[in-house]
Amino acid sequence: MSLVIQENVNLSSMNTFGVEAQARYFIRFSSKEELIEVFQKSVFDVPVKKENKVTRNASTKLPFLCLGEGSNILFVQPFSGVVLKNEIRGLEILKQTAESVSLKVGAGENWHKFVLHCVQQNWGGVENLSLIPGTVGAAPIQNIGAYGVEVQDVIEAVEIYDIEQKKFLILSKEECQFSYRDSIFKREGRGRWIITSVNFTLSKKPILRTHYGAIEIELKNQGISHPTIKDISDTVIKIRRSKLPDPKELGNAGSFFKNPVVTADFYSSLKQAHPQIIAYPEASGQYKIAAAWCIEQCGFKGWRQGACGVHSQQALVLVNYGTATGNEILALSERIRTKVFETFQIQLETEVQVIS
Ligand code: FAD
Ligand code: EPU
Repeated sequence: MSLVIQENVNLSSMNTFGVEAQARYFIRFSSKEELIEVFQKSVFDVPVKKENKVTRNASTKLPFLCLGEGSNILFVQPFSGVVLKNEIRGLEILKQTAESVSLKVGAGENWHKFVLHCVQQNWGGVENLSLIPGTVGAAPIQNIGAYGVEVQDVIEAVEIYDIEQKKFLILSKEECQFSYRDSIFKREGRGRWIITSVNFTLSKKPILRTHYGAIEIELKNQGISHPTIKDISDTVIKIRRSKLPDPKELGNAGSFFKNPVVTADFYSSLKQAHPQIIAYPEASGQYKIAAAWCIEQCGFKGWRQGACGVHSQQALVLVNYGTATGNEILALSERIRTKVFETFQIQLETEVQVIS
């Protein structure tokens, strides 16, 4: 096999913020066999030095970072380990009935292309997740979600490579421990598991989810009363294009923060102090607060600080006007967090993975 180890690779075109960052080592892999080979490489072994002498046969391992399309990442310094670019492709039909279809999709496939393929086949379940950037393999990591749907709704299982056991394992949906913008992959799996494929079950008799405010309004505006899954996909794409900046034109990584989920008691005190606050009740009895609203109230919407800023249409999205560094964007995010805490006593949690 012909794995190429590159050194000191510039990652600025491989992260949607478009910030400068270097990878000490960089390897592309496009199959499970190549992934096994990657971890046999001595590039990971760093000889241990004691009193400035290299100790024979003793080594520590360099860290790795599995990179998809870099749409949920902020590099704040050079990555001194090995960046592994996941390019495992392929879509396989595992089972079909009159009701549903089960698929296995390579982790390196582009998410939106996969969604468009499903919409074209009239397989329902992912149409509300149209136009989310990134790879299929990264979708389970933060349980991507939009317009009333989360990817956990259609996931059956996730295949991983465990670098410690040097084994491929299958995690059931339950084992993935999905919740809002979270999963086991952000915890136990971090730095240890690489997702190689994802299994989905989609419906041939789709139940359309149009309840998310903006979708209903947009369909009504277009005079569509009996939408197809293609109508939903087109509508979601239209709404997203009107609000979210295209990373090809303006560097960003989508929502920089998660929407905070608070107790009913805390929400009620917030509501008293800020009657206009936007929040949604959760099945758990808690409330999800619209962080974008809080950030906007703090005066940051459209704010610019040097080469970075807060998007003028969506206050949850931080943007790079061209030459911002990862540290400048991080500093802006800290400024926002401090002000939101002073105003609302809410600690915003970062959604974007800060790589330091
Ligand atoms: P990367 O950014 O490359 O990686 C993200 C993290 O996952 C990193 O920690 C990385 O190490 C890890 N990772 C990636 N692939 C693997 C793998 N195969 N195995 C193990 N670890 C891996 N997200 C939403 O949920 N909803 C939205 O509506 C949404 N809208 C967005 C809009 C814009 C304009 C942008 C730029 C981003 C948006 N996002 C949204 C965030 C982003 O699209 C998702 O988080 C996406 O899943 C990231 O995919 P990626 O391949 O780019 O991952
Ligand atoms: N709002 C403001 N000010 C703003 C933007 C929005 O007050 O600047 C208000 C809106 O009027 C609305 C509420 O906040 O009442 C929610 O706004 P929106 O529907 O745009 O959604 P969001 O909560 O800001 C979340 C996700 C997005 C996802 C959309 C659509 C998170 C952190 N973000 O944003 O996901 O696309 O819902 O479902 O949950 C991402 O994760 O990267 C991402 C873009």
